[in-house]
Amino acid sequence: MRRNTLITGVDIGTGGIKILAVTIGEKESDPEVLGITQAPVLGVRKGTVINVEEVSNSLRSALEEFQDVVGQKIDSAVINLSGSHIFVTPSKGVVVVSRADKEISQEDIERVMQAAQTFSLPSNKEILEVLPKEFIIDGEKGIKEPLGLQGVRLEVEILALGGFSPYIKNLTKAVLNSGIQISDIAISPLASSRSILTPRQKELGVALLDIGAGTSGLAVFEEGDLIHTTIFPVGSAHITNDIAVGLKTDIDTAERIKIEFGSCLWKASKKKEKIKKIGKKEPLMFSQKMLGNIIEARMSEIFDLTNKELKKISRQGKLPSGVVLTGGGVKLPRIVEFAKKELKLPCQIEYPSGIIGLEKDPALSLVSGLVLRGIDLEEDSLPSFQGGFFSKFKKVFRIFIP
Ligand SMILES: Nc1ncnc2c1ncn2[C@@H]1O[C@H](COP(=O)(O)OP(=O)(O)OP(=O)(O)O)[C@@H](O)[C@H]1O
Ligand SMILES: [Mg+2]
Repeated sequence: MRRNTLITGVDIGTGGIKILAVTIGEKESDPEVLGITQAPVLGVRKGTVINVEEVSNSLRSALEEFQDVVGQKIDSAVINLSGSHIFVTPSKGVVVVSRADKEISQEDIERVMQAAQTFSLPSNKEILEVLPKEFIIDGEKGIKEPLGLQGVRLEVEILALGGFSPYIKNLTKAVLNSGIQISDIAISPLASSRSILTPRQKELGVALLDIGAGTSGLAVFEEGDLIHTTIFPVGSAHITNDIAVGLKTDIDTAERIKIEFGSCLWKASKKKEKIKKIGKKEPLMFSQKMLGNIIEARMSEIFDLTNKELKKISRQGKLPSGVVLTGGGVKLPRIVEFAKKELKLPCQIEYPSGIIGLEKDPALSLVSGLVLRGIDLEEDSLPSFQGGFFSKFKKVFRIFIP
């Protein structure tokens, strides 16, 4: 690890841009926050960059302000790809080991990884990341590090992650036009997992659900590996919109109502029906029950989508480490109880860890994960290769030219 390095993560979310910069000191300790900011964004819909210029302008002004505050220039950042266009595809590759002594070389591994990626994809979709699940040598399964082992037939099982090329291009263009380079792109739920989930949870079987403003990202792990990920186009901003429509008020008032009075499980509570009042000039009256109904309908939708997705991969109600909730949308009171009821699994809220000086806020999981990923990349780029051989293949796509 190069010391005194500055690593930056930029989370382009539907609800705003978050920038986190950390420094890695001389000593072997956790990275430390240099600065963090949240800024408004235009041009993002349900996680997807739909207007390059608007996002680029939003990011440029957020960066300018951020650089002034921290007193350092930000040259590059790890960014996220979000939106319901992201996909995962499992695939397999097989090659014959090339060396006469049958020892598996790095070249064999590169060849088998390439072979696994030769599946047909529509021309407007592209792979962003390839995760090797396991190598198989002469039928012997479950091998994580095949280098130096002996065999004739080398197979690999991978999970390829990607997205809709025009949206990926929109994202990269918007960031590059704002004046910074892209050091890496991470699929959102995967990056949130990096700062939230423990290796033990991933080993036992766990799902991460990052409820944001316009999306909810799901990532499922088992035996240490990602087995599935998807992004639903529904988030907490939909609750705000529903409140605005239901209570016939503007979005800002609806957001205030959600944050001040919102709660899950209102229906199940024994509390007496209450009429709340907000605003002084022309106060808006609303019933707590009506608010509860609006919130629960949307949260149920998110949990239904989660259940359906878990069912698709035969993990509904079956993950020993349950569902870990994160993202700004999980700040609603009693959400954990509601999630347990709907998902029929252990549920808990988790906050990002591994960064000194970071406030305990579930909305910061993704940006923290981006920074931690940036640190992983730094480690991998060392000539001594401390990151391990395996990690070299996590990423195949790194062309970020506008
Ligand atoms: N105290 C709170 N109670 C309820 N909801 C809250 C609270 N604080 C923030 N939120 C909601 O969290 C959402 C923002 O969360 P987050 O910052 O994770 O979203 P985002 O990353 O911008 O969006 P996305 O991930 O969907 O692109 C907003 O919809 C906001 O209303
Ligand atoms: Mg988010």
